[in-house]
Amino acid sequence: MLHKSNSLAHYSNVVANRIRPHIWLLPNILTAWWWGVNIGLKNQFYGKTVFRTEPNSIISIGDNCRFNSSHRSNLIGVYSPCMISTIARNSEIYIGNNCGFSGTVMGAALSIKLGNNVRCGANTLITDSDWHSGDPRTGKNAPVVIEDNVWLGYGVKVLKGVHIGENSVIGAGSIVTHDIPANVVAAGNPCKVIRTISE
Ligand SMILES: CC(C)(COP(=O)(O)OP(=O)(O)OC[C@H]1O[C@@H](n2cnc3c(N)ncnc32)[C@H](O)[C@@H]1OP(=O)(O)O)[C@@H](O)C(=O)NCCC(=O)NCCS
Repeated sequence: MLHKSNSLAHYSNVVANRIRPHIWLLPNILTAWWWGVNIGLKNQFYGKTVFRTEPNSIISIGDNCRFNSSHRSNLIGVYSPCMISTIARNSEIYIGNNCGFSGTVMGAALSIKLGNNVRCGANTLITDSDWHSGDPRTGKNAPVVIEDNVWLGYGVKVLKGVHIGENSVIGAGSIVTHDIPANVVAAGNPCKVIRTISE
């Protein structure tokens, strides 16, 4: 006879998930402070987020964001901690309020700006450079802007110079190399609009 799922396991996990952000808050806030990251209020951390800053760069995080950095913090599977870094002097990362990240890697050599309510699915990458600045085969760094209410699906890569308009959804596994307008669902490699979101 098959067993049904175990409620005790479920509810103990619910309780553990309520406790975990409190345990992880102080180490993450201290790391943020150590690296000069400006961080707002009521942010939640599941596991240890990695912050790194280059001199004269800015990382600014709003209020009420969630960072899933442990592999169990999101059952869709998180391969690495969230890693938020400036990788060149005078670069900047601005993250608005109510944003969510699962194992998201974000590295700015120039400028990355996220609005409010941006959802970055598991194992997403946001970059404004090719990460090999001295290599003549690479292109120029270019700023990235992701506007309010954008949802990046699992494994999405947003590459340099991209602007994603508000309220748009980017399908799982997409590689975004060009601008995406507001209020659309877009997907694929390279990412293209597949439909408009109507009211
Ligand atoms: C983008 C998405 C929202 C579209 O869902 P939908 O509106 O139900 O669209 P459909 O499944 O009807 O697909 C419409 C078309 O887009 C294509 N498409 C959908 N998702 C795609 C993707 N991720 N990559 C490439 N093409 C995709 C389909 O193949 C289909 O093409 P066709 O018309 O030529 O057959 C959904 O596919 C998706 O990727 N969701 C993200 C899920 C996710 O990552 N969740 C976890 C977050 S951590």
